[in-house]
Amino acid sequence: MQKKVRTAVFPVAGRGTRFLPATKASPKEMLPIVDKPLIQYAVEEAVAAGAEKLVFITGSSKRAIEDHFDSDPMLESALAQSGKHDLVQLIRDIVPAGVTCIYIRQGEPLGLGHAVLCARPAVGNEPFYVHLADDLIDNDPPCLQQMAAEYQRHGGSVIAVEAVPANETSRYGIVAVDAENDNRITKIVEKPAPADAPSNLAVVGRYLLDAAIFDKLQNTGRGAGGEIQLTDAIADLLADMPVHAYSFSGDRYDCGSKIGYLKATVAYGLQHPETGESFRAHLKELLG
Ligand code: G1P
Repeated sequence: MQKKVRTAVFPVAGRGTRFLPATKASPKEMLPIVDKPLIQYAVEEAVAAGAEKLVFITGSSKRAIEDHFDSDPMLESALAQSGKHDLVQLIRDIVPAGVTCIYIRQGEPLGLGHAVLCARPAVGNEPFYVHLADDLIDNDPPCLQQMAAEYQRHGGSVIAVEAVPANETSRYGIVAVDAENDNRITKIVEKPAPADAPSNLAVVGRYLLDAAIFDKLQNTGRGAGGEIQLTDAIADLLADMPVHAYSFSGDRYDCGSKIGYLKATVAYGLQHPETGESFRAHLKELLG
């Protein structure tokens, strides 16, 4: 029996320049898919996978994230006065009882590895999730929950992967695995050119990591793009303990790109109880 994973880390300090001007004054993690911001999908997934402590690594102009997960007595009483009790409940349920939010500022934009290292004082010596809200994964059970089950099976660390077209390897961490040995990762490289990629299996934004990663991150220098890369610290960890690649079930939308964001909006809009039917009819009409 492995430890229960109770902490989730959300690196949300990035500026989201690919979505300017939408992200000039508001965080990219607050972009909605239908009626919920990306970061709320992230939190719901982590909570469903057992997280009770949510650690947000934030930066400048990310205030809206803190406000979103805080209570809002004025809004609640205004809604209650106009009889909208279902909406009062909806906003109260954004953070379920027993879940704590912790905010840590990443003072400098030194990369994903540095962001995760900033979470160390809040995580302690426990296994933890890292969730990148840009990668929206549609599935029941959600991806992190699938990974928690995988972790209970063999311990170590677990990283979600997905096959990508060979010409896209330079956008991801890429792994080589030993298929005979529970898909143990034998090599991991950050954003390799197709010719240098050890496979076409790409890391997506879900990690379940052993706390041993923190000592590795402490000693990780700048890598690809001049940033402190989580991938490089994981590469260091491979020699010490098993890190498994996990091919999850679900549809992934790269909501850090405009086309991925639009695809997610269509998929979730078609599923949504309020919009599904009329949205489907509209799309049919539109596309002939
Ligand atoms: C990060 C990681 C990369 C991973 C990707 C998944 O890159 O560094 O290894 O494949 O997330 O979304 P980023 O998208 O932040 O450039």
